[in-house]
Amino acid sequence: VGTLGEADLKGKKVFVRADLNVPLDDAQKITDDTRIRASVPTIKFLLEKGAKVILASHLGRPKGVTPKYSLKPLVPRLSELLGVEVVMANDCIGEEVEKLVAALPEGGVLLLENVRFYKEEEKNEPEFAKKLASVADLYVNDAFGTAHRAHASTEGVTKYLKPAVAGFLMQKELDYLVGAVANPKKPFAAIVGGSKVSTKIGVIESLLAKVDILILGGGMIYTFYKAQGYSVGKSLVEEDKLELATSLIEKAKAKGVSLLLPTDIVVADKFAADAESKIVPATAIPDDWMGLDVGPDATKTFNEALDTTQTIIWNGPMGVFEFPKFAAGTEAIAKKLAELTTTKGVTTIIGGGDSVAAVEKAGLADKMSHISTGGGASLELLEGKTLPGVLALDDA
Ligand code: 3PG
Repeated sequence: VGTLGEADLKGKKVFVRADLNVPLDDAQKITDDTRIRASVPTIKFLLEKGAKVILASHLGRPKGVTPKYSLKPLVPRLSELLGVEVVMANDCIGEEVEKLVAALPEGGVLLLENVRFYKEEEKNEPEFAKKLASVADLYVNDAFGTAHRAHASTEGVTKYLKPAVAGFLMQKELDYLVGAVANPKKPFAAIVGGSKVSTKIGVIESLLAKVDILILGGGMIYTFYKAQGYSVGKSLVEEDKLELATSLIEKAKAKGVSLLLPTDIVVADKFAADAESKIVPATAIPDDWMGLDVGPDATKTFNEALDTTQTIIWNGPMGVFEFPKFAAGTEAIAKKLAELTTTKGVTTIIGGGDSVAAVEKAGLADKMSHISTGGGASLELLEGKTLPGVLALDDA
């Protein structure tokens, strides 16, 4: 895709679509500012080049104008990180926005109100996209987390604003999630977890064509066990995916991929943080128990396999890590990846969503090669799909 470094920026009004969809608590306080921090390098670069930045994002999934989804609570943190007073608009289009843009100095930032306050945003209506575009000279998309949405501010707007290029965050995400995955240093391992195999089929199939080792964990493994005839007790099983699980095992075999399923399991007598727990072989889960984490033998086998690799991609936790009693398997993966990155230079990519939360909870976020800011977007990329927000950019 077209890059930011090549664009002529002095005095230019730049429409920057970022993903500032951060979690806010009931008091409208930001509880995780990762996405704001991740958006800073592109905005700072533009400001240093003398551009006027018109910053747009969505927040949440509002139906119409909803005060609790306003971007206003982000202004102090953004101003602090950027080192300039960010001006806030009450809307994302219209006369007030036009006036504020006209008054914006070089090196100034105007934050537009939530683009999803208009239903035209998600419908990608051309008239709305045209209005968004009308106040700017060029377009920078840094909203990787929203790049899988063909919305007015991520896709439609590129028809009216040229050049339309990727920001640094977007570029970095693509370098890792597309570049490093397509041309990995070998051996290449994928660790796929999460509760349901149905949400990870695409990822597993796509990665089976690329990896040498595939480690599976999380709630999805019980569907694989059941497919192999093991008793799984009260563990989560997707009955309609048993054949699929068998076919994935066969595909791995046919492709020469070493598929590792946990050999032991931490089972619980109920789905609760204070459940009774014990470790059992994966082949012998007792009737009234359910698997909530991978066991210590599994972790040992996984670690030995990961020790042989040069590139690792991880998507989805190994167990119910929200409950401390069932977090060990997930924490062990986070620790192993951090160790391999820092001591052996292994490329480690954390592909969004729950695994990112787990790495952050373990305090290891700064030890990985790349932690994606996208949930759905990173999943779609790993499935080998093209993201409309990327495709719409110049030279994509
Ligand atoms: C996300 O949080 O994954 C992105 O900001 C996209 O949000 P959405 O799923 O509401 O489109």
